[in-house]
Amino acid sequence: MARIVAGVATSHVPAIGAAIDQGKTQEPYWQPLFAGFEFSKRWIAEQKPDVVVLVYNDHASAFSLELIPTFAIGCAESFAPADEGWGPRPVPVVEGHPELAWHIAQSTILDEFDMTIVNRMEVDHGLTVPLSLMFGQPAASNFHWPCKVIPLAVNVVQYPPPTGNRCWNLGRAIRKAVESFEPDLKVMIWGTGGMSHQLQGPRAGLINRAFDTAFLDGLTRDPAALARIPHLDYVREAGSEGIELVMWLIMRGALAADAREIYRFYHVPASNTAVGHIILENP
Ligand code: DHB
Ligand code: FE
Repeated sequence: MARIVAGVATSHVPAIGAAIDQGKTQEPYWQPLFAGFEFSKRWIAEQKPDVVVLVYNDHASAFSLELIPTFAIGCAESFAPADEGWGPRPVPVVEGHPELAWHIAQSTILDEFDMTIVNRMEVDHGLTVPLSLMFGQPAASNFHWPCKVIPLAVNVVQYPPPTGNRCWNLGRAIRKAVESFEPDLKVMIWGTGGMSHQLQGPRAGLINRAFDTAFLDGLTRDPAALARIPHLDYVREAGSEGIELVMWLIMRGALAADAREIYRFYHVPASNTAVGHIILENP
């Protein structure tokens, strides 16, 4: 049977992707940030997942104000990197896993989650930056990401986003779906976005290290309590874009209650956000 072996959470700041694509990772501004992912790159090279269910949000690249799915699962064979204004990132096309994606869609929809099924979609920095952080840049001679990826897009851009509790419960439903898929696959679930950041207005650049640290602690020790945080608390404490953190709860909900924290990293600044990262392994 398929099984979820681990969860990863990481911010998905677009400037990180630009730093990689422009060869700036060793510059003084960026070096400490990339150093924080060295452990993770070694860890995932050993883990070798077959599939990553990658929870992220689209930033008006594939969707727009014309069409706003709350939860959307990518069931296609492949997903090309989106052009976000400077041409598509020079990263591989993402290869999907249509069989598992359709199975998750079926299982979660029959469990009463109104999942939108997406058969054609381009993926933006929300999805490609975490892949770059965890896998580095694939060699030109073998230009593929090392595993299949199922994009799971969550609306955190246009009010109202789903509640943290809804995200937590969706994670639990995803775990049930994966564990009822017959092929023997090693699956990971990633949550992206966060941590505290506000990109516009008088509070732009807001960083709340105490809130972020408590959130990281809660992911390990008491995630059910995090699921009760209301939207207004995220916005007040973590900034308007800090609401992206609800996506981390989908990741956590898909793991066992006694999942173990094996790595954590926190860094300020990247662009005008706090970068947070945690790895949890299922027992
Ligand atoms: C920025 C954009 C994001 O989507 C994000 O999650 C963090 C930062 C930015 O434009 O700086
Ligand atoms: Fe974002």
